[in-house]
This record gives sequence, structure tokens and C-alpha cells, in this order.
Amino acid sequence: MAVIIINFKTYPQATGENAVRLAELCQELADEHDADIRVAVQAADLYRVSQAVSIPVYAEHVDPIDPGRNTGFILPEAVKAEGAAGTLLNHSEHRLERDVLERSVKEAKDAGLKVVICAATPEEGSEVAALQPEFVAVEPPELIGGEVSVSAAEPEIIRKSVELIDAPLLVGAGIHTGEDVKVALELGAVGVLLASGVTKAEDPKKALLALLDF
Ligand code: G3P
Repeated sequence: MAVIIINFKTYPQATGENAVRLAELCQELADEHDADIRVAVQAADLYRVSQAVSIPVYAEHVDPIDPGRNTGFILPEAVKAEGAAGTLLNHSEHRLERDVLERSVKEAKDAGLKVVICAATPEEGSEVAALQPEFVAVEPPELIGGEVSVSAAEPEIIRKSVELIDAPLLVGAGIHTGEDVKVALELGAVGVLLASGVTKAEDPKKALLALLDF
């Protein structure tokens, strides 16, 4: 079964009460279509979204800190307590130095969170796979937020990722359609990570249904 993670980022359509509504829609379609749809939400929305749905909810980021004197940082244990199943780390929009990433992965795992490590290239994906995440998600930064998908424009990146990365692979950037998902799966990815194709869609239900049509 393909894994589909919708990253809510900080889109207004996917923040606060809108985050709850969109996550509930994901839940509804996951149930109806027996699909593995997960959501990644802002720390501020984790609790309300986790309370509203039973599909896996991920944080978009956590910091590599222990409880204590860390004003304003995101504590992995707190994210876990709010109901998160896991966290994204090293997203293109929130890049981490390698030593920070290593500590973040450790702290997240110690807190009982699954970890999705994002990478900009297959080569970076191959390096971070050594940290044994649940998934490595390869997303070419130049295609993020655009209309053209990694599946359509850069299938070679998916092929190379499959070849180099010793971890379950997600791919993302510009994913909008079931065909995008199909190509990713055919090339050897286990699923996709996407945002704007759903969060910015005029009709998010239609957008989700299109993704499930592969
Ligand atoms: O994390 C998902 C992502 O960065 C891709 O964004 O809007 O191209 O689906 P988007």
C-alpha cells in the first residue's frame, strides 16, 4: 500500500481549525479507500489534529533538546505527548547541519517518534539513510511548490534514489496526480510526500481522490 504523507507546512488552508478539517478529510478518504494517508502538521496544531483523527500525525520538525532550559524550542517528548506518531526532519525549508540532524534523529527516536528524513538529492538521501529513519524522502528543491512533479520531470532522480538509498523511499515535489504516484511506485518508491497539490487545491477532496487514483 502506498504511503501518502501530506505536509501541511504553514499554509493557511491547513493551519488551526483548517488543519483539523483537512486531516479529517484525509481520515475519511483513508478509511473509504483503505489508503495509508498521513499528515504532517505544525507543532501548534499537533494536539488538536491528533485528537480529531486516528491516521498517523507527524510533526513537521523537532529540535534536538532534552527537557529543561530551551525556551521556544520544540521538545520531542512534548510532540509525542501531544499525539504525534513521528516527525519530519531536514525538510528543504528547514535544513539541518549533519551533526544537528544526527542529534535530532536520536532525540526523536528516544522520545518514541518515527522519523522521516528529507533529502535534496539521492546522494544526500543515501548518507542520511545510515541514521535508520522510517523513510527517506527525496525532494528536488527546485520543484517544490510547483506544478511539475518529480515523477514527470525527474524520474531519473527517483531511479537513482532507489538505487542508492538503503531505506524505504518517499519522493516528493510537485506531486498532484495519481499518475505521479503511480510512476513513483513503479520506479521503486514506497510512497510520496506532498503539500500544495492538496493544501492549495480549490477542492482538496477532489485533489486527494485524484492522488488515490493510481
Ligand atoms: O514536503 C512536501 C514538499 O516539500 C513538496 O511540496 O508543494 O511541491 O507538494 P509540494
